[in-house]
Amino acid sequence: MKLAPSLLSADFGKLRDEAFEVEPQADYFHIDVMDGHFVPNLTIGPPAVNSLRRGLSRPLDIHLMIDYPAIYAPQFDVCAGDFITFHIEAKDDPHRVIDIIAATGAGVGISLRPATPLSVLRPYLKQVDLVLVMTVEPGFSGQQIVTDAVERIAELASLLSKNSSKAMIAVDGGVNKNNIDSLVRAGAELVVVGSAIFSAPDRRAAMEELIAAV
Ligand code: DX5
Ligand code: ZN
Repeated sequence: MKLAPSLLSADFGKLRDEAFEVEPQADYFHIDVMDGHFVPNLTIGPPAVNSLRRGLSRPLDIHLMIDYPAIYAPQFDVCAGDFITFHIEAKDDPHRVIDIIAATGAGVGISLRPATPLSVLRPYLKQVDLVLVMTVEPGFSGQQIVTDAVERIAELASLLSKNSSKAMIAVDGGVNKNNIDSLVRAGAELVVVGSAIFSAPDRRAAMEELIAAV
């Protein structure tokens, strides 16, 4: 299992310090980019992300919750091992977005809202490096995980294996020390955690607990 703290739950006034604090136990930094249209929330965009990453020593897992990923994906300074993930429900043609992300050198990720059927992934499975399963409605951290999260991860694992896809399975939303083990057992390989890390008094201890729970 790889762990990706979601900086959406961190203090935006000192993002790099917050990132440094959790870096020892982090495999990736998960960064939520929101446009106020695709989701009813606004966060940060390419200039802030590109500045933030200088000095960090982990790859980024950039989660684009935006209507037009084709415009913004090329604006990120990509480093080896980064992923850029867009939503299948966004307004741009997915094949075009995949090509644009691949051209940046980042791994290509596709994310789905909780109600979107996994079958929509079929046409893209050959080109996708990561599938990010949203287990809350995208937009905010600190929500309860959906009730069918484990089943959905297991269903995705089966879909990927039937199609000989090597895409990594990521889970994002409502993950905590009580449910992380079942999600990983179902097939989640990259686990995104926001509030369960950043709301804890000791973030590093919270991450150790998450790792130990699996
Ligand atoms: C929500 C974001 C998540 C969020 C996770 O739209 O995509 O990455 O920050 O936060 P928690 O773990 O608190 O649900
Ligand atoms: Zn996210």
